[in-house]
Amino acid sequence: MRIPVIAGNWKMYKDVREAVELANDIKREVYNVDNVEIVVCPPFVDLGDVCEMLDESNILVGAQNCYWEKEGAFTGEVSIPMLKSIGCKYVVIGHSERRQFFGETDETVNKKVAACINGGLIPIMCVGEVLAEREAGKTLDVVKKQVSGGLKGFNETFISTLIIAYEPVWAIGTGRTATPLQAQEVHSMIRDLLSKLYSKAKADSIRILYGGSVKPDNIVDLMKQGDIDGALIGGASLKSASFVDIIRSTSGLRSGKK
Ligand code: PGA
Repeated sequence: MRIPVIAGNWKMYKDVREAVELANDIKREVYNVDNVEIVVCPPFVDLGDVCEMLDESNILVGAQNCYWEKEGAFTGEVSIPMLKSIGCKYVVIGHSERRQFFGETDETVNKKVAACINGGLIPIMCVGEVLAEREAGKTLDVVKKQVSGGLKGFNETFISTLIIAYEPVWAIGTGRTATPLQAQEVHSMIRDLLSKLYSKAKADSIRILYGGSVKPDNIVDLMKQGDIDGALIGGASLKSASFVDIIRSTSGLRSGKK
């Protein structure tokens, strides 16, 4: 059974005080939700304090990026052992903003996903097409290439904790969500691909999240699609009211897909 995941990507918002306050507000509201995996991904500098605030709660903490080496002369980078040492459990890898502005490629994504799994963190690997690719009818090819590139060289056992997030770039922060059917088409293609690369059982066990302008008023229709197993949320995760609303709606819908 695939337990739904609702993950908040706080991007470069919230200083430490604001982050701890937001984490506390969410914690107070969702303490009794037990059928949704809840994750928040604050900026690096907030992680330690947020992990402490959420310790022993039902909310887990993720980073928004990492480097693949364990340590060394890599100025400005943060390693997986460092993230683990403060209580992080997840890392968002290959978000489109990192691909667009910081030169991430399928190769760097592949190295980071490998490092996360080897280091015991759960990667949330992001894929998604830009508007021009969608308009040129290339969506499925682009996403297929990103998924296969990101997972290159991994066997079925290795990827057992992996989470994938499909985020059409044109829907991120724009208020323009993919329709549930547009999202489902890509999610089901990704699951088929996983089934070909690995096995049907493995493909059926991997959570595929949707991301891109997810809000309290569209989460239900998205979650009703057979291959959408949760959401990666930017803007609507920055306010406790909207994030909690999305968590409650997901929790009320069902406690997991087959
Ligand atoms: P958004 O961002 O919800 O603000 O569109 C989603 C994301 O970038 O993960």
